[in-house]
Parts: sequence; C-alpha cells; structure tokens
Amino acid sequence: MAAASLGLAGRHIVLGLSGGIACYKAADFTRELVKAGATVQVVMTEAAEEFITPVTLQALSNRRVYTSQWDAREPNNMAHINLTREADAIVIAPASADLIAKLVQGRADDLLSLMCLARPIERCPLLVAPAMNREMWAHPATKRNLAQLRADGTAILGPGSGDQACGEIGDGRMLEPAELLADMVACFQPKLLAGRRVLITAGPTFEPIDPVRGITNHSSGKMGFAIARAAADAGAAVTLVAGPVHLPTPRGVARIDVMTARQMFDATLSAVAAHDVFVATAAVADWRPARFNDHKIKKQAGEKGPPSFELAENPDILATVAALPKPPYCVGFAAESHDLLAHAREKRVRKGIPLIVANLGPATFGQDDNALTLVDANGERELPRADKLTLARQLVAEIARRVGVGQ
Ligand code: C5P
Repeated sequence: MAAASLGLAGRHIVLGLSGGIACYKAADFTRELVKAGATVQVVMTEAAEEFITPVTLQALSNRRVYTSQWDAREPNNMAHINLTREADAIVIAPASADLIAKLVQGRADDLLSLMCLARPIERCPLLVAPAMNREMWAHPATKRNLAQLRADGTAILGPGSGDQACGEIGDGRMLEPAELLADMVACFQPKLLAGRRVLITAGPTFEPIDPVRGITNHSSGKMGFAIARAAADAGAAVTLVAGPVHLPTPRGVARIDVMTARQMFDATLSAVAAHDVFVATAAVADWRPARFNDHKIKKQAGEKGPPSFELAENPDILATVAALPKPPYCVGFAAESHDLLAHAREKRVRKGIPLIVANLGPATFGQDDNALTLVDANGERELPRADKLTLARQLVAEIARRVGVGQ
C-alpha cells in the first residue's frame, strides 16, 4: 500500500507502551508507523520495560525513548508537557487494564499517564489498544472503565480475539500491528459519510460450465475493496458483495461472498433497501452457460470438433437497483478498451444512474494504480493516475458531496 494514501506521512505520533506481553508487537507497530512516513516518539512505563527494552524501540523509531517524568535530558524537566505539544496523536499499544484504570481516574504517577492527562485534549487525540487476559477484559470493572474512556472521547482500537499468551482463548488480545495501523489511518480520515450506509459490488463473477470449468474475467476486486475501505474510513457502514477474489476484508466492513452473477444479484437486491449509496464496481459476466453440466464434459475420442454452448443473459444488477422505486444514490463503473468517454456517457444514461466512473479495462485489471474519469450530468472530472486507495478516497469525497453530507 502506497504510504501517501495512508495519510500518516509527516504525522508525529507518541507511542505509549504499558506492561503486557503484547509489548513485543509494539516493535513491529513502530516499524509500520515509520514506514507509513510518521515520526514516532516512544514512551514506556516501568512495567513495559520488563517485557521489551527501550534499546529495541529506540533503534526502530530512531529517537531516544522516554521512561520517566524525572528525565533530566529535558531542559525544563517537563517531559510530560513537551512530548505532546507537537504530537498529532497519542496511541497506547499495549494498554494494560491498570493503565486504562489510571486514565479513567486521571491519575498521573508515571510519565505515560501524566502525559495523557497533560495533553492538549482538543488537538491531540488519544487512541488506546487494550491488551489483557479474557477474564480481565470481561470484568465489570474493565467494562466500566472502557465505557468511561469512550465517553471521555478516547478511541478504542480492538481488542482482537483468539489464542492468548496465558493459554486461554477469548477476547482481549491486542490487535496485530497491521490492524492497529489500519484503525489509526481511519481515525485520521474525515468522516464524510458518517451515518451513511454504502453497498458495494466488487470483483469478477464466475459462471460455471461444469464442476471444473467456468466463464470469468480478469477483475481483481482491488478497486471495489479500496472503495469499501475508503467508505468505512469515512465513517460509513459498508456492505461488500464480493465475487471470487483472494483479498482481505477491509476492517469493519460486512462482506458477503458470492460466485455467480445471479448470486450477486440476489445478495445485492436483498441488502439494498438498507443502504443510501450503491457503488457497482464488479465486472459482472454478461452471459452464463444456459445449462450447467453436472459432470465434467469429456473430450470424446473421434468426436468431431469441440462442444458448443448456448449462453443466457445475466440480469443487470446496477440497472435493476437504479430502477427501484426508491433507489440509493447509484454509482457505476465503465471499463472500456476504447472510446472511453463516449461509452461511459451512453452507459450512464442507459443505466439511469447519476454518476459513472470511466476507466480503461486493460490498464486497471489487477493493477495497484489506475486513472479515473467521473462522468455525471454536468460533465467530466479527471482523477489522475494514483494508487487505488487514493482514488477511492477521492471518489468517496465526490460521492459525499453529491449525497450532501460531510464536512
Ligand atoms: O454494461 P456494463 O457491464 O459495461 O456496465 C458496467 C457497470 O454495470 C458496472 O458498474 C457493473 O458493476 C454494472 N453491472 C451490473 N450488472 C451486470 C453488468 C454490469 O451491475 N450484469
């Protein structure tokens, strides 16, 4: 993923570590932040130093690590003030149950808790990634503390669920570094689609001929998945109807996997009523074999020529949704090989949709970047070549402007 599309380049992040075995993941997380272009200032509690040394985090962050409020290196001896004045955010990963309790009470008996209390609350958000045993996580005291922390405006990242270092299984694991990074990136995105529900189709469809063969295409699903991520980062509730692709589900997105165009049609039409926006990025097969052969079609010795197939037309999902009595705001895609604009303009009108996004099929299928042209009733707007997440964020901003929400 291109660092530019993550929006962390040039940001200054104070990364706090409290005591817990998940401290080992903080090393990798520091690298992820640095790779994304952020500067990272690590602050550790005494308990965190029992799990990982400041040397490791100094090497990875390329900055000296702070562990004490009595750090004499600060000319004014006020590390708790100095450290957050330039910070774009404090993220605490891992956040122990004890540290969370201290934050809730506003206690300040070590550098990390003191610094959180002393931060400029309006411009330095606090993000907390809990990490603890499942019983500690489920305890009423922790639940109370988390509710209070949220009410105080703190973002809670995770926790995850699964195997725990103690051998038990359940909720309370700290998120993996890549998940933490994705959630942080989302925190920095403007909430242009807050409260909106977005339905997206993505990927190819696969139309079976027999149990081993079928008709499909080269769509990778990358553009649709990038739009799903951008919409979720912009605060929307997102449902993603995905054809057969091997892409990870963007965090927070509800995914429905389908194979054929008719399955995609059914999944989309059952979900659509609960959505305000529909973005059809899927490369839906226009035709399917009229008959499915229950057994693999065999090459017959001596038979004259290959078998021939009758094709049946697939339903047009986008046109059907656009023709509903109360359609969501519909966005289509046109992947063409030539006469891009003429085809896109014609397709927008024929499908009865307000906005269509034109791109060159061969230049986008499977690629990590693309160039788009937005076509609506008022004309065209070019989104120059960029990685697909950057384009997806721009498209989401255009959609938000048209559906009349956002900042
Ligand atoms: O007609 P064409 O396939 O070129 O139109 C492309 C647009 O229509 C895309 O947005 C695609 O997702 C959508 N589409 C659809 N159902 C189909 C065919 C295309 O939703 N059966």
